[in-house]
Amino acid sequence: MVPVDFAAERAMGKGGCGIFAYVNHGVGRSQRFIVDALVTGLRRLEYRGYDSAGLSLDRVPSLKAASTGSNGHGAGHGGAGQGGSAPLVFRATGKVDALVACVESTGPTSGLAWEVELDFHAGIAHTRWATHGPPLPKNAHPHVSDSGHAFVVVHNGIITNHAPLREMLQRHGFVFESDTDTEVIPKLAKYLYDSFPPTPDNSPRLSFLQLVQLVVRELDGAYALIFKSSHYPGELVAAKRGSPLLLAIRDPAAADAATAAAAAAAGEHLQQRSNSSGGSGGAATGAADGVLATADSHDRPAMTQRPRPGKRRRADQIEFFLASDASAVIEHTKKVVVLEDDDCVHLAGGSYAVYRLQRGGPPAADGAPAPASAFLSGDGADAHGGVLLNPPATVHRVIQTLELEVEQIMRGKWDHFMAKEIHEQPDSLRQTMRGRVISPGPACPAGRIQLGGISGFVGAIRRSRRIMFIACGSSFHGCLAVRPLVEELTELPVQLELASDFLDRRCPVFRGDTCVFVSQSGETADTLRALEYAKSAGALCVGVVNAVGSAIARATDCGIHINAGAEIGVASTKAYTSQIVSLVMMALLLSEDSASKATRRAEIIAALQTLPDAVADVLRLDAQIRVLATSLVKEQSMLVFGRGWNYATALEAALKVKEVALMHSEGILAGEMKHGPLALVDASLPLLCVATSDGHLAKMESVCEQLRARGGRIILMVDDARGRLAQAAGSTPDGASRVLVVPRTVDCLQSVVNAVPLQLLAYHLTVLRGHNVDRACPRPSVLPPCLHALLRFYLTRMTMPHAEPRNLAKSVTVE
Ligand code: AGP
Repeated sequence: MVPVDFAAERAMGKGGCGIFAYVNHGVGRSQRFIVDALVTGLRRLEYRGYDSAGLSLDRVPSLKAASTGSNGHGAGHGGAGQGGSAPLVFRATGKVDALVACVESTGPTSGLAWEVELDFHAGIAHTRWATHGPPLPKNAHPHVSDSGHAFVVVHNGIITNHAPLREMLQRHGFVFESDTDTEVIPKLAKYLYDSFPPTPDNSPRLSFLQLVQLVVRELDGAYALIFKSSHYPGELVAAKRGSPLLLAIRDPAAADAATAAAAAAAGEHLQQRSNSSGGSGGAATGAADGVLATADSHDRPAMTQRPRPGKRRRADQIEFFLASDASAVIEHTKKVVVLEDDDCVHLAGGSYAVYRLQRGGPPAADGAPAPASAFLSGDGADAHGGVLLNPPATVHRVIQTLELEVEQIMRGKWDHFMAKEIHEQPDSLRQTMRGRVISPGPACPAGRIQLGGISGFVGAIRRSRRIMFIACGSSFHGCLAVRPLVEELTELPVQLELASDFLDRRCPVFRGDTCVFVSQSGETADTLRALEYAKSAGALCVGVVNAVGSAIARATDCGIHINAGAEIGVASTKAYTSQIVSLVMMALLLSEDSASKATRRAEIIAALQTLPDAVADVLRLDAQIRVLATSLVKEQSMLVFGRGWNYATALEAALKVKEVALMHSEGILAGEMKHGPLALVDASLPLLCVATSDGHLAKMESVCEQLRARGGRIILMVDDARGRLAQAAGSTPDGASRVLVVPRTVDCLQSVVNAVPLQLLAYHLTVLRGHNVDRACPRPSVLPPCLHALLRFYLTRMTMPHAEPRNLAKSVTVE
C-alpha cells in the first residue's frame, strides 16, 4: 500500500456541516446497530463544528407507527399517514448526544424496534451548521418532502436558487416548515415524482437515479446530497457538486487482508455496476483518470488504486458508507471511491454505480422545472411503461485505499485534538520533509531538495513575471512567513493575496504569472474560486495542500503535498508549520541553479534537518506557557508584535487566540507600532513581542523599548542566545515582565519554532477560559448540564447573535 495522507477530504458545505449514510445489504443489522453506526459517523464529523444534528432510518415494517409528528423538541417524526413505509426522521439542536437522547426517547413509539434485525437498510445522517435559519429542530436535516416523508434529504452546501424554487413549489401547494435553502430539494423531488403517475402495477416510472437527475439539474450552488425515499426502499442516491463526498465500501466477507487481496485480484467482489452507456468509456472516464493523474502529479500519490475488476457481480453481503470526510468511515473500511463534481452514486441491491450528471434544463413559464417529458427520449416511455430519460453515462472511479489510520482521527492520550496536533509537530515536520530534503553527500555537498510534484515546472515558475501566493487565514500567514525567502532566493516579484480580496478586486492575472494556492483542506471556497479565476486567466497554478485528492489538489497544474497528516482540530497548527516548511523547500528548489545562493541554501538545508528537534525542544515549554496563560486568562485583549520573518508569527498567534480562546487579539507589524497602535499601550494591556535574533532584531528591540516607555506589560519571546545573555546580566531582556526563551534556528525557519509556544498559549487560554478547544464554543463547558441546557434554551429563544458557537468551521466552503 502506498503511503497516503488523506488528511481532509473533509471540507464541508455550510460551514461545519457533516454528511453520513450507512447501507447494509445482506448483512443482518439490528436497528440499534444502525442507529449506532449513523451516530458514530456523526461523532467522527463533530470536529468540524455544528449546532444541530439529525438522522433518518426506516421503521420496522411490521410495527404500526404511533406517528408522533414533531414534538416540538425536534424529536422523531414518522411520516404521518404513511403507515409503516415512511422513513423516520429524528432531529435535535445541540450536540449529537441530544440527537441520541431524542432517538432513545421517541424512537420506540415512532416505529423503532432496537433489536429487530434488518437485512437491507439505508440510513442517512447529518450535522448542521446554521446558515439559512437559526439552529432549531425544524431547520436541522434531514429535510422532508411532505408529511409522509416520501423523500428525505441531507445536504451540505448552499442552493443559491432556492428562493425561486420555493416560490414555484409553494404555488404548487407545497408547505415549507423550515427556513433553509435545503428544503426545496426533497419537495422538488416529490413534485417531479408526482408528475409521473406510477405504472399500473404501482411501480415508479422513474428510477431513483433518473429522479435525482431531474432534481439536480434544477439546482444552482454547491452541494453534497443524499436522497432517501419511501418509494425506493433500501436505495440511496447521492450527488456532488462543490462539496466533498466519498463512498466507502466494506465487504464483510473479506475479513482479512489476504482474502480481500486475493478476491480483488480475481475480480470477485465489490463490483461497480454499469448501465447501457458502456461503463468506463468516454470523456467522463478520461476526466476521472485525468483527475487522478493530477493528484499523482503531486509528489505523492493520493491513494493506492486497485484496477477496476473485469467481471461485474453483485455482492451478496456488503455495506456502503457515504461521508463528507474520510474520518467518518475509516473505522469501517479503507476502500473508498472519491467522487468528483457532477458525479452521482446510486446504491441499490448491494451494488453501486457512479454516473456523470448533466445540469440545466429549460424552465417552464412559471419557473417550474420543464415538464419531465422535455428530458425524455423517444415517446417518453419504454416497452414496460417505464420512463426513459437520456441515461447519464456511468463513469469509472477506482476504489482507492486510504492510508489514514484510525489512531490519526482519535485523540489518544490527549484531551483535545489541538493539543495532540501541536505536540505531533516534530513528527509532522519530519513527514513533510521525508524524501524531499536530501542530506549533503559526496555527490551533492550542500544537500538538495526533491519535490516530484513540481520538478517538471521549476523552469516555468522561474520564468514567470511574478509569483502570487493566494490563501486564507493561517495558510495566508504561512505564505507571509516565507515571502522574504522566496524573494531573496528567486529574485522574482512576489505578491501575497488573501483569496477573498483577490476575488473582490478581480486582481489582474496574466499568462506569465505563477499563482500558488496554499490550503490545508484544499477545499476552501475563496481559495478554490481564486484558483478557477487564475486558471481562466492562463496562469500556471501550483497547489500546496495538505488534503490529498482535495479540490485544489486536483485542479492545480502541479503542486506539493504538505504531508502534515490528518488535522482534526479546528485551529490549524501542524499544517501551518508544515506549510512553511513546504514553501521553504519550494523556494530552495526554485533557486537550485543559482551559484550565488549556494551558501545560503546549504545553511537552510542544514537547519531543516534539525528543525524537528528544535520544535521538540520548544514543546518542553508547555508547563511554563500554561502558567503564562493562567496570568492572562482574565484579559479582554492582547497585542502581538513581530516584524520581518516574524510578522506572520504575530498575525498567526493573534488569529489562534481569537479563534479558539475567543479573546480579542491583534497581530501588529512592529514597524507600524508608532502609526496608531501605540495609543492603546498602557500598563494593563498585555503585549507579546516576538524578538528572536535576526537581521531585524535591533529595530525590534527599539520597538520594545518604546512600548516599555509607555509602561507596556511586555511578554517577550527571545531565542536561547539572548535569553542566556540576559540571565547572565541578572535581568529580563528589554525589561519584559515575562520571557519565553525558544531554541534558535536559521532566520527563515525561526517562525516555525516561534509559532509553537504561541499555539500552546492559545490552547491553554482556551482550556482555562472554559471553552471547547476543538469545537470552540463560547459557553463555559464547566456549567452543570442542567444550567447549560437552561442557558441554551434562553439563548436560542432570544436569538442572540452569540447564542451559538462562533468559531470558524474547519474548512469554509461557502464564500
Ligand atoms: C486557522 O486556524 C483557521 N482554521 C483558518 O484560518 C484556516 O487556516 C483558513 O480557513 C484556511 O483554510 P485552508 O488552509 O483549509 O484553506
